Amino acid sequence: MSDTNRGTDVPSSDPAADAAAIFDLLIGLVRAQVLRGIAALHIADHLSDGAMMAEEVAKREGSHPQATYRLMRAASSIGLLSYEGDRRFSLTGRGRLLRSGVPGSMRSLVLAQTGQALWQSWAHFSEAVRAGGAQTKKALGMEIFEYYSKPENSEEAALFAQAMGNLSGLVTQGAVAALSTAGVSTVVDVGGSNGDFVLALMEADPELRGQVLDLPHVVESARGEADKRGLSGRLSAVGGDFFVEVPPADLYLVKTILHDWDDDQCTTILRNCRSAVNEGGRALVVEMVVGEIGKPDLATLSDMAMLTSTNGMERDLDEFDALFAASGWRRSKTYPVGNGYFGMEVDAV
Ligand SMILES: C[S@@+](CC[C@H](N)C(=O)[O-])C[C@H]1O[C@@H](n2cnc3c(N)ncnc32)[C@H](O)[C@@H]1O
Repeated sequence: MSDTNRGTDVPSSDPAADAAAIFDLLIGLVRAQVLRGIAALHIADHLSDGAMMAEEVAKREGSHPQATYRLMRAASSIGLLSYEGDRRFSLTGRGRLLRSGVPGSMRSLVLAQTGQALWQSWAHFSEAVRAGGAQTKKALGMEIFEYYSKPENSEEAALFAQAMGNLSGLVTQGAVAALSTAGVSTVVDVGGSNGDFVLALMEADPELRGQVLDLPHVVESARGEADKRGLSGRLSAVGGDFFVEVPPADLYLVKTILHDWDDDQCTTILRNCRSAVNEGGRALVVEMVVGEIGKPDLATLSDMAMLTSTNGMERDLDEFDALFAASGWRRSKTYPVGNGYFGMEVDAV
């Protein structure tokens, strides 16, 4: 089955080809679970030192030999593993990114996206469309960030924070390269999770002092990350609520936050930044931006994920500008930062 033809670029009138295309789209759910299997059963980790027979991997992992072989065979059909013959497999470049704890790893992102909270929410997707909002209360008994804040879900919450770090890896390099920090001494990463973004900025500019504001159960991971990078002397992490108050700063980083919330909630977050910003300060909002309708657009697909599990949405530039205008900001610069994400710098008006 081809890996292509999944976009809108196939104006086919051949019913057989169209049926095959639909089947190919549908099998995406299996692709996601094969990714999960390779990550969750540490198969990428077991193969880090070279090719191995499926049975040997199964023995190390304590999994079923034949089922493990079938999973590895499927993974080799979608480019995660390479088949070396005699039931032996090795990692491809993509497969290597499913190892744990390596630079650029996507493992936590895969596990969080296919994990309990988000996967269960997808089961209620049609209802979310009918009702016009996420059904996480039905799926999980509560809103998503409340779910992650419960002590019994702390492992999943930690995974989600690491997943945000994995996702950050897709855009931080581009954002750090594009953003000038001249004249900036204090930066607050609003909802900064494990602080990946602000820490990358601090590595690029040794004069910066950074702060992560996030929910109390999350900020410990930012402290740990700063320690790991030898930056704890310049980073503080504050547990708080961005709907109530944000600390003063010359620069706010608001990365993949607004897409979690409705317009009124976004306006509150941005207004809180506007009220606290130091004279001459600004904010950098990083989000996917919805482009031309009808073209292949990751932002519109990510928007479905937002509809399923949050109160938010992905927005187009006009919608962002309306939020900025309503909260005392004006967009001054916009640039792509990689993988469908854009940086939008806003100045106080
Ligand atoms: C989608 S994640 C984005 C994390 C990070 N900015 C990034 O791009 O990797 C949203 C973050 O907002 C945090 N958050 C949710 N509600 C919050 C609140 N009321 N106050 C502060 N942080 C909050 C979550 O804990 C989570 O870390």
